[in-house]
Amino acid sequence: MIEIQRRAAQAVLDVLEGHSLSAVLAALWKRNPGLAGSDRAAIQDLSFGTCRMLGTLRALLDLLLKKPPTDREVEALLLVAIYQLEWTRAAHYAVVDFAVRTCAALGKASAKGLVNAVLRSYLRNRETLLTRARATEAGRYSYPQWWIAELAHAWPDDYLAILEAGNRHPPMTLRVNRRATTPERYLAMLRDADLQAKQVGPFALLLDRPVPVEHLPGFAQGLVSVQDLAAQYAAPLLDLRNGMRVLDACAAPGGKTAHLLELADIDLTSLDRDTQRMQRVRENLRRLHLSATLAGSDAADLSAWWDGRAFDRILLDAPCSASGVVRRHPDIKWLRRQDDLPRLAVEQARLLDALWHTLASGGKLLYVTCSVFPAENQAQIAAFLGAHRDAGVAPLTPFPNKTGQLLPDSRHDGFYYALLHKLPAAAG
Ligand SMILES: C[S@@+](CC[C@H](N)C(=O)[O-])C[C@H]1O[C@@H](n2cnc3c(N)ncnc32)[C@H](O)[C@@H]1O
Repeated sequence: MIEIQRRAAQAVLDVLEGHSLSAVLAALWKRNPGLAGSDRAAIQDLSFGTCRMLGTLRALLDLLLKKPPTDREVEALLLVAIYQLEWTRAAHYAVVDFAVRTCAALGKASAKGLVNAVLRSYLRNRETLLTRARATEAGRYSYPQWWIAELAHAWPDDYLAILEAGNRHPPMTLRVNRRATTPERYLAMLRDADLQAKQVGPFALLLDRPVPVEHLPGFAQGLVSVQDLAAQYAAPLLDLRNGMRVLDACAAPGGKTAHLLELADIDLTSLDRDTQRMQRVRENLRRLHLSATLAGSDAADLSAWWDGRAFDRILLDAPCSASGVVRRHPDIKWLRRQDDLPRLAVEQARLLDALWHTLASGGKLLYVTCSVFPAENQAQIAAFLGAHRDAGVAPLTPFPNKTGQLLPDSRHDGFYYALLHKLPAAAG
């Protein structure tokens, strides 16, 4: 366990220094190809869990330390160790003992006494400390205070449920590839593999328990993809027909691109500014036996990639705060800053404005975010409609509500959808 605790603490330290947890872990796996699958899972659980509960953990550490921590490595180690003591079944004596020994391994022998004292004090006083840590909203819900305030303002009736959903473990949902099989047949294959699931959408199967994709029957052959139920609404909303020219403007890693291609025989251009992530699109399409024209470019820089032929349909899955998917990326809560929201809104508007030029008259553009902040969603679309007289809103079908906003719950992530219709020129 000592190595696992040390590596998890290093990953948490990297997050505290501003790095994305997924990228940090991906780099760790790459540097250590021999790391056992069970060790990877344990490091991931510990670092994800610590980030999920970081607001509470920091409040606890503030109560336990007389002055703010000066050594960030020791701080990260304490955060991980307190997480282990409170939220895992690890033996308490082992957690404390390993944390003390990790100090020495880190070349911080002078911190051994402090680490030992803090963790033992936590174990002696945990009830009182937890009650005191939960006296503030940030300590109770484990989100930055600005985030809680934004949600409370936007969703006064739902914000507590949104916060709680963001702190749960995410569900794992599959999208059945209708070109390859049916939900009924795939459910039977899952049962044969001792995996339980239920159908939650026309082609969506919710697994009782998440599993590594290698355990899914026929995954490598392209029978299914992993995709949240909320994300599975995107492609059908574009009512595709064979032969249409379609653009997926922010496509990587390719979940929605593949879904579009599963639905109809379309001429699809998939674009993303991140050329490395485009490799994931390539791999996904290969696995699913699908093809599209792929390009790496800033979608708003039309001169760099557009041949001037208009698209019948456009999917703009815009870069956003990802506030609807924090349970999948708990580090996001701590990496985002409040002033990222107006900055992101400007970028989303830039993409919307540019891509609107590439849409055929009578065509449709689906704007999507995995955010629950109105500045990126309802306010963004209201501003766009105000500035574009040739834009109208088309009804969302099939979709569970008229607002386009899905809040995260036990079945799906938080997503926003708006379907924009380009009115014929005479009406513009
Ligand atoms: C929400 S993710 C897309 C997820 C993808 N649609 C899927 O379903 O798998 C947003 C993507 O937008 C890309 N992106 C951000 N700014 C962009 C820009 N100006 N032009 C093109 N892509 C951009 C990011 O690299 C990222 O891959």
